[in-house]
Amino acid sequence: MAEPFLIGEAMTGGYGPVDILHACTIAVEKGQIAVIVGPNGAGKSTAMKAVFGMLRLRGGHVKLAGEDITALSPQARVAKGMAFVPQTHNIFTSMTVEENLEMGAFLRRDDIQGTMEQVYDLFPILKQKRYQAAGELSGGQRQQVAVGRALMTQPKVLMLDEPTAGVSPIVMDELFDRIIEVARTGISILMVEQNARQALDIADKGYVLVQGANRFTDTGQALLADPEVRRSFLGG
Ligand SMILES: Nc1ncnc2c1ncn2[C@@H]1O[C@H](COP(=O)(O)OP(=O)(O)OP(=O)(O)O)[C@@H](O)[C@H]1O
Ligand SMILES: [Mg+2]
Repeated sequence: MAEPFLIGEAMTGGYGPVDILHACTIAVEKGQIAVIVGPNGAGKSTAMKAVFGMLRLRGGHVKLAGEDITALSPQARVAKGMAFVPQTHNIFTSMTVEENLEMGAFLRRDDIQGTMEQVYDLFPILKQKRYQAAGELSGGQRQQVAVGRALMTQPKVLMLDEPTAGVSPIVMDELFDRIIEVARTGISILMVEQNARQALDIADKGYVLVQGANRFTDTGQALLADPEVRRSFLGG
Protein backbone atom coordinates (compact mmCIF):
# COMPACT_ATOMS: atom_id res chain seq x y z
CA MET A 1 0.00 0.00 0.00
CA ALA A 2 1.18 3.53 -0.72
CA GLU A 3 2.44 5.58 2.18
CA PRO A 4 -0.06 7.99 3.82
CA PHE A 5 0.19 11.66 2.85
CA LEU A 6 1.30 12.63 6.36
CA ILE A 7 2.63 10.16 8.89
CA GLY A 8 4.28 10.40 12.27
CA GLU A 9 5.68 6.90 12.53
CA ALA A 10 6.77 5.13 15.71
CA MET A 11 7.28 8.48 17.44
CA THR A 12 9.04 8.29 20.80
CA GLY A 13 9.82 11.37 22.86
CA GLY A 14 8.71 13.84 25.50
CA TYR A 15 9.50 17.18 27.07
CA GLY A 16 12.53 16.21 29.11
CA PRO A 17 14.23 12.97 29.97
CA VAL A 18 10.87 11.22 30.38
CA ASP A 19 9.18 9.92 27.25
CA ILE A 20 5.51 10.72 26.81
CA LEU A 21 5.10 9.07 23.40
CA HIS A 22 6.03 5.42 23.00
CA ALA A 23 6.41 4.38 19.36
CA CYS A 24 3.20 6.24 18.58
CA THR A 25 2.00 6.29 14.97
CA ILE A 26 -0.49 8.80 13.54
CA ALA A 27 -1.29 9.30 9.86
CA VAL A 28 -3.74 10.91 7.47
CA GLU A 29 -4.42 10.38 3.78
CA LYS A 30 -4.97 13.12 1.22
CA GLY A 31 -8.35 14.81 1.66
CA GLN A 32 -9.33 12.53 4.52
CA ILE A 33 -10.16 13.13 8.16
CA ALA A 34 -8.15 11.37 10.87
CA VAL A 35 -9.19 11.74 14.49
CA ILE A 36 -7.19 11.13 17.66
CA VAL A 37 -9.13 10.35 20.83
CA GLY A 38 -8.16 9.13 24.27
CA PRO A 39 -8.29 10.06 27.94
CA ASN A 40 -6.87 13.30 29.38
CA GLY A 41 -3.11 13.16 29.53
CA ALA A 42 -2.89 10.34 26.98
CA GLY A 43 -0.45 12.36 24.90
CA LYS A 44 -2.81 13.49 22.13
CA SER A 45 -1.54 17.08 22.11
CA THR A 46 2.01 15.82 22.46
CA ALA A 47 1.55 13.62 19.39
CA MET A 48 0.26 16.63 17.43
CA LYS A 49 3.22 18.73 18.56
CA ALA A 50 5.56 15.94 17.53
CA VAL A 51 4.05 15.76 14.05
CA PHE A 52 4.31 19.55 13.74
CA GLY A 53 7.95 19.64 14.88
CA MET A 54 7.51 21.19 18.31
CA LEU A 55 9.04 18.22 20.08
CA ARG A 56 12.43 16.60 19.61
CA LEU A 57 11.87 12.91 18.86
CA ARG A 58 14.16 10.28 20.31
CA GLY A 59 12.77 7.73 17.92
CA GLY A 60 10.64 7.50 14.82
CA HIS A 61 10.12 10.01 12.03
CA VAL A 62 7.61 12.27 10.33
CA LYS A 63 7.02 12.11 6.60
CA LEU A 64 5.00 14.43 4.37
CA ALA A 65 4.27 13.34 0.80
CA GLY A 66 7.06 10.80 1.05
CA GLU A 67 9.65 13.30 2.26
CA ASP A 68 11.28 12.87 5.66
CA ILE A 69 10.62 16.14 7.50
CA THR A 70 11.63 14.96 10.99
CA ALA A 71 14.45 17.51 11.23
CA LEU A 72 12.42 20.51 9.99
CA SER A 73 11.30 23.38 12.22
CA PRO A 74 7.56 24.10 12.57
CA GLN A 75 7.99 27.16 10.34
CA ALA A 76 9.64 25.08 7.63
CA ARG A 77 6.72 22.63 7.89
CA VAL A 78 4.28 25.49 7.37
CA ALA A 79 6.18 26.35 4.20
CA LYS A 80 5.71 22.71 3.14
CA GLY A 81 1.93 22.95 3.56
CA MET A 82 1.21 22.11 7.17
CA ALA A 83 -0.98 24.22 9.45
CA PHE A 84 -1.58 23.68 13.16
CA VAL A 85 -4.25 25.07 15.46
CA PRO A 86 -3.07 24.42 19.04
CA GLN A 87 -5.43 23.50 21.88
CA THR A 88 -5.01 26.85 23.66
CA HIS A 89 -3.86 30.38 22.84
CA ASN A 90 -4.70 29.86 19.18
CA ILE A 91 -5.79 33.43 18.34
CA PHE A 92 -4.55 36.96 19.03
CA THR A 93 -7.36 38.25 21.25
CA SER A 94 -6.47 41.96 21.06
CA MET A 95 -6.32 41.95 17.26
CA THR A 96 -9.34 42.13 15.01
CA VAL A 97 -10.69 39.07 13.24
CA GLU A 98 -9.26 40.29 9.96
CA GLU A 99 -5.84 41.03 11.48
CA ASN A 100 -5.81 37.47 12.83
CA LEU A 101 -6.42 36.15 9.32
CA GLU A 102 -3.69 38.41 7.93
CA MET A 103 -1.27 37.10 10.58
CA GLY A 104 -2.05 33.59 9.39
CA ALA A 105 -0.75 34.53 5.96
CA PHE A 106 2.52 36.01 7.19
CA LEU A 107 4.65 33.62 5.16
CA ARG A 108 2.87 34.41 1.89
CA ARG A 109 4.17 36.89 -0.63
CA ASP A 110 1.22 36.65 -3.04
CA ASP A 111 -2.24 38.23 -2.87
CA ILE A 112 -4.16 36.82 0.11
CA GLN A 113 -7.50 38.45 -0.71
CA GLY A 114 -8.95 35.41 -2.48
CA THR A 115 -8.13 33.11 0.42
CA MET A 116 -9.64 35.56 2.86
CA GLU A 117 -12.88 35.55 0.85
CA GLN A 118 -12.86 31.73 0.96
CA VAL A 119 -12.52 31.83 4.74
CA TYR A 120 -15.36 34.33 4.95
CA ASP A 121 -17.49 32.09 2.70
CA LEU A 122 -16.78 29.16 5.01
CA PHE A 123 -17.45 31.21 8.18
CA PRO A 124 -19.81 34.10 7.25
CA ILE A 125 -20.00 35.34 10.84
CA LEU A 126 -16.30 36.23 10.66
CA LYS A 127 -16.93 38.59 7.77
CA GLN A 128 -19.63 40.28 9.78
CA LYS A 129 -17.24 40.69 12.72
CA ARG A 130 -14.08 41.33 10.72
CA TYR A 131 -13.24 44.64 12.46
CA GLN A 132 -14.06 43.39 15.96
CA ALA A 133 -11.37 42.27 18.43
CA ALA A 134 -11.18 38.47 18.31
CA GLY A 135 -11.24 38.37 22.12
CA GLU A 136 -14.79 39.74 22.09
CA LEU A 137 -16.12 36.76 20.13
CA SER A 138 -17.92 33.70 21.51
CA GLY A 139 -16.02 30.45 22.02
CA GLY A 140 -17.31 28.92 18.80
CA GLN A 141 -16.53 32.05 16.82
CA ARG A 142 -13.00 32.18 18.23
CA GLN A 143 -12.45 28.61 17.07
CA GLN A 144 -13.60 29.68 13.62
CA VAL A 145 -11.01 32.47 13.70
CA ALA A 146 -8.33 29.95 14.68
CA VAL A 147 -9.29 27.55 11.88
CA GLY A 148 -9.61 30.44 9.43
CA ARG A 149 -6.18 31.77 10.39
CA ALA A 150 -4.68 28.32 9.73
CA LEU A 151 -6.41 28.12 6.34
CA MET A 152 -4.82 31.42 5.31
CA THR A 153 -1.55 29.59 4.61
CA GLN A 154 -3.41 27.47 2.01
CA PRO A 155 -2.30 24.28 3.75
CA LYS A 156 -2.34 20.76 2.39
CA VAL A 157 -2.77 19.42 5.92
CA LEU A 158 -4.78 21.09 8.65
CA MET A 159 -4.02 19.94 12.20
CA LEU A 160 -6.61 20.82 14.85
CA ASP A 161 -6.22 20.17 18.58
CA GLU A 162 -9.73 20.06 20.08
CA PRO A 163 -11.40 22.55 17.72
CA THR A 164 -14.76 22.12 19.48
CA ALA A 165 -13.51 22.57 23.05
CA GLY A 166 -16.01 24.51 25.12
CA VAL A 167 -18.66 24.98 22.43
CA SER A 168 -22.30 23.87 22.49
CA PRO A 169 -23.42 20.68 20.69
CA ILE A 170 -25.06 22.72 17.92
CA VAL A 171 -21.94 24.79 17.33
CA MET A 172 -19.89 21.60 17.41
CA ASP A 173 -22.05 20.03 14.68
CA GLU A 174 -21.67 23.17 12.56
CA LEU A 175 -17.91 23.22 13.03
CA PHE A 176 -17.68 19.54 12.06
CA ASP A 177 -19.72 20.28 8.92
CA ARG A 178 -17.26 23.02 7.99
CA ILE A 179 -14.33 20.69 8.64
CA ILE A 180 -15.88 18.08 6.33
CA GLU A 181 -16.26 20.84 3.73
CA VAL A 182 -12.57 21.71 4.05
CA ALA A 183 -11.58 18.04 3.64
CA ARG A 184 -13.69 17.80 0.47
CA THR A 185 -11.47 20.47 -1.11
CA GLY A 186 -8.58 17.99 -0.81
CA ILE A 187 -7.07 19.24 2.43
CA SER A 188 -6.15 16.48 4.90
CA ILE A 189 -7.47 16.95 8.42
CA LEU A 190 -5.70 15.56 11.48
CA MET A 191 -7.57 16.41 14.65
CA VAL A 192 -7.75 15.64 18.33
CA GLU A 193 -11.24 15.51 19.79
CA GLN A 194 -12.77 15.22 23.23
CA ASN A 195 -16.18 14.61 21.64
CA ALA A 196 -15.04 11.17 20.60
CA ARG A 197 -18.33 9.72 19.37
CA GLN A 198 -19.23 12.63 17.08
CA ALA A 199 -15.67 13.01 15.83
CA LEU A 200 -15.23 9.31 15.02
CA ASP A 201 -18.51 9.48 13.13
CA ILE A 202 -16.95 11.89 10.61
CA ALA A 203 -13.51 10.24 10.69
CA ASP A 204 -12.10 8.15 7.86
CA LYS A 205 -9.51 6.93 10.33
CA GLY A 206 -9.47 6.94 14.12
CA TYR A 207 -6.71 6.54 16.67
CA VAL A 208 -7.29 5.73 20.32
CA LEU A 209 -4.20 6.75 22.32
CA VAL A 210 -3.55 5.61 25.87
CA GLN A 211 -0.42 6.54 27.83
CA GLY A 212 1.38 7.74 24.74
CA ALA A 213 0.81 4.57 22.74
CA ASN A 214 -1.62 3.37 20.08
CA ARG A 215 -4.37 1.31 21.73
CA PHE A 216 -6.86 1.01 18.84
CA THR A 217 -6.57 2.08 15.19
CA ASP A 218 -9.29 1.55 12.61
CA THR A 219 -11.85 3.37 10.49
CA GLY A 220 -14.04 5.74 12.48
CA GLN A 221 -17.07 3.51 11.96
CA ALA A 222 -15.26 0.34 13.01
CA LEU A 223 -14.09 1.98 16.23
CA LEU A 224 -17.64 3.19 16.95
CA ALA A 225 -18.87 -0.39 16.50
CA ASP A 226 -16.12 -2.01 18.59
CA PRO A 227 -17.61 -3.10 21.96
CA GLU A 228 -14.33 -2.69 23.81
CA VAL A 229 -13.74 0.81 22.43
CA ARG A 230 -17.32 1.72 23.29
CA ARG A 231 -17.09 0.39 26.82
CA SER A 232 -13.69 1.89 27.64
CA PHE A 233 -13.66 5.17 25.71
CA LEU A 234 -17.13 6.11 24.53
CA GLY A 235 -19.15 5.60 27.68
CA GLY A 236 -20.83 2.33 26.60
N1 LIG B 1 5.02 21.31 28.22
C1 LIG B 1 5.05 20.19 28.93
N2 LIG B 1 6.09 19.90 29.75
C2 LIG B 1 6.15 18.76 30.48
N3 LIG B 1 5.17 17.82 30.45
C3 LIG B 1 4.11 18.04 29.68
C4 LIG B 1 3.99 19.22 28.88
N4 LIG B 1 2.81 19.17 28.19
C5 LIG B 1 2.24 18.01 28.56
N5 LIG B 1 3.00 17.32 29.42
C6 LIG B 1 2.70 16.00 29.99
O1 LIG B 1 2.58 15.06 28.93
C7 LIG B 1 1.51 14.15 29.18
C8 LIG B 1 0.56 14.17 27.97
O2 LIG B 1 -0.03 15.46 27.87
P1 LIG B 1 -0.86 15.92 26.60
O3 LIG B 1 -1.14 17.36 26.77
O4 LIG B 1 -0.19 15.49 25.37
O5 LIG B 1 -2.17 15.04 26.80
P2 LIG B 1 -3.58 15.13 26.05
O6 LIG B 1 -3.93 13.75 25.64
O7 LIG B 1 -3.54 16.16 24.99
O8 LIG B 1 -4.54 15.57 27.25
P3 LIG B 1 -5.88 16.52 27.23
O9 LIG B 1 -7.01 15.62 26.80
O10 LIG B 1 -6.01 16.92 28.65
O11 LIG B 1 -5.64 17.66 26.28
C9 LIG B 1 0.87 14.56 30.48
O12 LIG B 1 1.38 13.73 31.49
C10 LIG B 1 1.36 15.99 30.68
O13 LIG B 1 1.48 16.27 32.04
MG1 LIG C 1 -4.52 17.91 24.70
